[in-house]
Amino acid sequence: MKRIVLVTGGSTGIGKAVAARFRADGDTVIITGRNAERLAATAAEIDVRSIACDATDPGQVADLAAELGEHLDVLVNMAGGNTDLQRPGEPESLEEVMAAWRENLDANLLSAVATTTAVLDKLRPGGTIVNIGSIGAEYASTSYGAAKAALAAWNAGLSAQVGPKGLTANLIAPGYIEETEFFHGQLGEQKRTALIGATHNGRAGRPGDIAETVHFLASEGAGHITGQTLHVNGGAYTTR
Ligand SMILES: NC(=O)c1ccc[n+]([C@@H]2O[C@H](COP(=O)([O-])OP(=O)(O)OC[C@H]3O[C@@H](n4cnc5c(N)ncnc54)[C@H](OP(=O)(O)O)[C@@H]3O)[C@@H](O)[C@H]2O)c1
Repeated sequence: MKRIVLVTGGSTGIGKAVAARFRADGDTVIITGRNAERLAATAAEIDVRSIACDATDPGQVADLAAELGEHLDVLVNMAGGNTDLQRPGEPESLEEVMAAWRENLDANLLSAVATTTAVLDKLRPGGTIVNIGSIGAEYASTSYGAAKAALAAWNAGLSAQVGPKGLTANLIAPGYIEETEFFHGQLGEQKRTALIGATHNGRAGRPGDIAETVHFLASEGAGHITGQTLHVNGGAYTTR
């Protein structure tokens, strides 16, 4: 069955790979992002529809929901990133520290809460929600890791909420993934080598690793997997 798939943050990196993966099945795919020009270019490249939307803005998210059709089968809350990497210098005043924390919570937690809330009624039984967390939630981290940890906690509650409607909700926590704009040019060679060195398979993750995992979670065979965090990191963080 052809599905209708919404991927927030689909212009670049992992989101683009996820959108392309579903499109390869012939699914109808919609991607969102803030930079309308870049979003439209990606949509044309991978043959999907695009709707410009800042997932942290409730008005824009409501407009997105209104623009979508009646039904959705897959929602991938990909929009996010470490907003600390996008700001020059460290926050100093208490106001600046709190603003910096709010930015990461908005970008990584409330973006997913807003989009999910706005489109929940469109998701058909058999459908799935995939939230994108981070290995950063497991390590000494700042507001970014805290926001992704909160996303995982919310995902568990979301699963309980949507299970009776025939939907699943899971979170994928990627380790270091190359070929994305996540680090905004701030990943030095030493740090990159350390991130790869922490894996068991000795390589960086690729957007396709996450795309295949999302695709599996949206498959019929994954129908009994819900409320879970799936770590995709080459062994850089292990579970029991
Ligand atoms: N790369 C890694 O190593 C890694 C590891 C763990 C988790 N992650 C997570 O994976 C997800 C995808 O990141 P990526 O690595 O693919 O980096 P990326 O290339 O920077 O992609 C992020 C995408 O999200 C969009 N976006 C950001 N904020 C948005 C917002 N408020 N509303 C709508 N779109 C928004 C960006 O486009 P616009 O700027 O045009 O909006 C961009 O297309 C993020 O949630 C990130 O935290 C990444």
